[in-house]
Amino acid sequence: MHPIKVRAETADDFRAIDVVNLSAFQGEAEAQLVSELRKSDRFIPDLSLVAELNGRIVGHVVLSRVPLHSSAGAVEVLALGPMSVVPSQSHRGIGSELIEAAVARAKPLCYSAIVVAGHPDYYLRFGFKPAKGWGVSANLSIPDDALTAMELVEGALSGGGEIEYPGLFKALF
Ligand SMILES: CC(C)(COP(=O)(O)OP(=O)(O)OC[C@H]1O[C@@H](n2cnc3c(N)ncnc32)[C@H](O)[C@@H]1OP(=O)(O)O)[C@@H](O)C(=O)NCCC(=O)NCCS
Repeated sequence: MHPIKVRAETADDFRAIDVVNLSAFQGEAEAQLVSELRKSDRFIPDLSLVAELNGRIVGHVVLSRVPLHSSAGAVEVLALGPMSVVPSQSHRGIGSELIEAAVARAKPLCYSAIVVAGHPDYYLRFGFKPAKGWGVSANLSIPDDALTAMELVEGALSGGGEIEYPGLFKALF
């Protein structure tokens, strides 16, 4: 297999990212969410990553800013997703490379934690853990078990609290 290159998106990639999301998900909601996130103040251009294979975009992941409200106040953490790999290239480790790259890039940007809503079995293998173990929940209609999280700074989630996903995500959850 040719090496995968993971890099930050550029404006030239938007259409290709749309195609990846439309092919990976059954429906337009995720592609729409990515477009809307780009326009929102939650968006971090350096954390919207594409996976390239032979110069073609075959995967995408976006991490955006969300507040974590606890009794100690509010801190900004990262919400991972949507994430997608084109079906013809899935199960080849591209999703794993995207997550590892996202975590590696988030750390130097000084974010203290990452949360993910959905597919807990997939994310646990990368070191994400059930968020409820820290007493962290989210304002989404998902089961408790579906929220996983990773501390980038030790103890960052120890105060628990609620992740406030922006309304944009309500189209998915
Ligand atoms: C989930 C997804 C991003 C994984 O990408 P990938 O490149 O296939 O991932 P990897 O090759 O690194 O890992 C594959 C493993 O992921 C797991 N996996 C794949 N899809 C999964 C899902 N929907 N739920 C749980 N685990 C899943 C499987 O265990 C698989 O292992 P296998 O290859 O031994 O069967 C990709 O399958 C996809 O785009 N799915 C549709 C969109 C989606 O559900 N996105 C995630 C939620 S936002």
